[in-house]
Amino acid sequence: MFSKWPHNAPAASRLRRTLAFRLAAAYSLVGLALVLLATASLYFVLRTELDKSTEQFLADKLHVVRTILQERPSDRDALREEIELETAARRYQQFYIRLLDDHGVPILTTPGMADQLDVAELIRRTRNRPEHSVSMTGLHGRPFRVASAIAWAAFSPPRDDTIQIAVDVSQEEGLLRHYRLWFWAILLASSILFPLLGYGIARRGIRPVEEIAATARRITSTNLGERIQAEGYPSELASLAGTFNKMLERLEESFERISRFSADIAHDLRTPVNNIRGEEEVALARARTVDEYREVIESTLEESVRLSELIGDLLFLARAERPLTELRRERVNVDRLLSVVCDYYEASASNGGISLVTNQDAEPLTAELDRALMLRAVSNLVANAIAHTPTGGRVTLAARSEDAATRIEVSDTGRGIPAEALPRVFDRFFRVDPSRSSASGGTGLGLAIVQSIITLHGGQAEITSQLGQGTCVALRIPLTAS
Ligand SMILES: Nc1ncnc2c1ncn2[C@@H]1O[C@H](COP(=O)(O)OP(=O)(O)OP(=O)(O)O)[C@@H](O)[C@H]1O
Ligand SMILES: [Mg+2]
Repeated sequence: MFSKWPHNAPAASRLRRTLAFRLAAAYSLVGLALVLLATASLYFVLRTELDKSTEQFLADKLHVVRTILQERPSDRDALREEIELETAARRYQQFYIRLLDDHGVPILTTPGMADQLDVAELIRRTRNRPEHSVSMTGLHGRPFRVASAIAWAAFSPPRDDTIQIAVDVSQEEGLLRHYRLWFWAILLASSILFPLLGYGIARRGIRPVEEIAATARRITSTNLGERIQAEGYPSELASLAGTFNKMLERLEESFERISRFSADIAHDLRTPVNNIRGEEEVALARARTVDEYREVIESTLEESVRLSELIGDLLFLARAERPLTELRRERVNVDRLLSVVCDYYEASASNGGISLVTNQDAEPLTAELDRALMLRAVSNLVANAIAHTPTGGRVTLAARSEDAATRIEVSDTGRGIPAEALPRVFDRFFRVDPSRSSASGGTGLGLAIVQSIITLHGGQAEITSQLGQGTCVALRIPLTAS
């Protein structure tokens, strides 16, 4: 996700592959298409409306002339007034009318019409399209709409005079030309502005992603404490940043745990090795009797046993953590398993003046477990309970079945664990009182091993404790392995 571009990609192709470029291109295309659609349809509507009103105008004028011809066939003055005066007085939308008799001889003409229009051309143009207007260019280059019609249509007696009519549409054409100019200007401006604005907006939008990438690039094992400041980010990216920060938190935690773990291992290995070395150096400083040598060997053997146990525990934890570690499950009689542990610790419990009891249901309890590992887990718990319970106390082992799970509990009436230490007792090398435990040989791996065994079985280990009252560790193992 945060990979860099290949160095040899040319700049243009690199730009084309950026998200900002793609977004900007998409915005621009959509924007331009919308502008094109809007302006073109407006132009089309405007043109149609102008055409329609010109057509209407011509039709109205034809109607007026016909009406006069019909109602007052011999009143030439009324016709002349309509044709010569009314048209001559107009300043806008100049129009011209010509009336021809049935021999094609002009009877009446708007003054100046012959200056503006090639009459022969007008006749030719309109011959095959009676009553319909056609476009035509005047003698001085002005645009006209022209039409011609036979006057007699519904007359009695019929007359076949011809009415020719022309209207100057240069105003309308001017308006349309103006509109077209604006159309191109808007299109040009949009095609420059849209990509620029789109690119700017897209860059702004994805800046947080770049910041997240930059933070990711900066992070190494030494600055895992760094976080992304997501204030002001849009919610999608704020959640991405939040997820990323949480990942960093987890990484930082695991890193810290691992480095604490390594320091603890080094420390716990160094002590027995130093003891062995010291004793041997002292022994070799001068000649010794056989008994003295035996004493030294016995003492160093003890340290060696401690060392190899510690290494064994570490190896066990490392193996248990591998994802594909398999359990050797078999049907185990849980009551018998607890009795075996009890028998094993009977002697050390009675030495410490502690009574060791098992609490069992009437029904025999069996479960699918890895027998050797469960023995180890329960033994660790009993060893802890005996170690932390004073003379006269009691350690109880209990097992019962609980909805779809087997529950094994080891409780004692010992000194208990302070509440602030409880969440950490399952951590490797954690000891509530390091100085005391070191002296008594505890390394702080016992509960970590219990937890990894229970996790391998798909269950959970829980601890509850009251300072001065006692501790209870409960192992809950589901019947069906998940
Ligand atoms: N039943 C208990 N009562 C009081 N404190 C306990 C009990 N069980 C564990 N603890 C505390 O939790 C710490 C961690 O226990 P854990 O079994 O992991 O290590 P350990 O007993 O010190 O060493 P190890 O078991 O590796 O020899 C112990 O040092 C002890 O302080
Ligand atoms: Mg222990």
